[in-house]
Amino acid sequence: MSCRVVVLLSGRGSNFRAIVEAGLPIDIVAVISNRPEAAGLAFAREHGLTAVALDHTQFADREVFDARLADEVERHQPDLVVLAGYMRILSPAFIARFEGRLLNIHPSLLPAFPGLKTHERALAEGVKVHGCTVHFVTAELDHGPIVIQAAVPVRADDTPDTLAARVLAQEHRIYPRAIQWFAEGRLVNKCGRVNLRDDSASQSVLSTES
Ligand code: GRF
Repeated sequence: MSCRVVVLLSGRGSNFRAIVEAGLPIDIVAVISNRPEAAGLAFAREHGLTAVALDHTQFADREVFDARLADEVERHQPDLVVLAGYMRILSPAFIARFEGRLLNIHPSLLPAFPGLKTHERALAEGVKVHGCTVHFVTAELDHGPIVIQAAVPVRADDTPDTLAARVLAQEHRIYPRAIQWFAEGRLVNKCGRVNLRDDSASQSVLSTES
């Protein structure tokens, strides 16, 4: 039986598109956005996927919204919930409900630069290597067990935009790979470490050269 995936997003949805276009052995059973105008939601509709808009501004507070969101996610009986540019902090109650089957992609080499404006901060610190990370979501923001990372060398003339574009290209490579591993039941998540079952051919660290 193929892995049932619910995608949560808020905006352009390029990671979601990369996941769809990778042709993975998964069943995307719903795409949910807290922003009704999200381009990712339109892409889902164009591809005949179930697209749900749940406008967070119509709810009293985060807890009420997240409870409704969790019910909506649960309704689709997901094996995996994928955050693909979901730009709201999730409440502990939501995370507890889906822990172990909740993945996120973050545009930095965690644990460096959790939070927002990662490319600006990486340039301001003068790091030579930047990148992106797919990780399981836990209660601590951007700190869950790491599944895969891709490294991107920083160039002397990089701006936040040029660096973001090269990191994004790597995001589009690693997120489908991580989801495929999850769907194949190959991710072993123990004591905060993720190991890959049958790690003969695959890599969980990528560089732009690989
Ligand atoms: C990506 O950079 C992702 O790492 C971050 O939000 C951005 C979403 O981009 N969490 P997109 O909507 O997938 O194009």
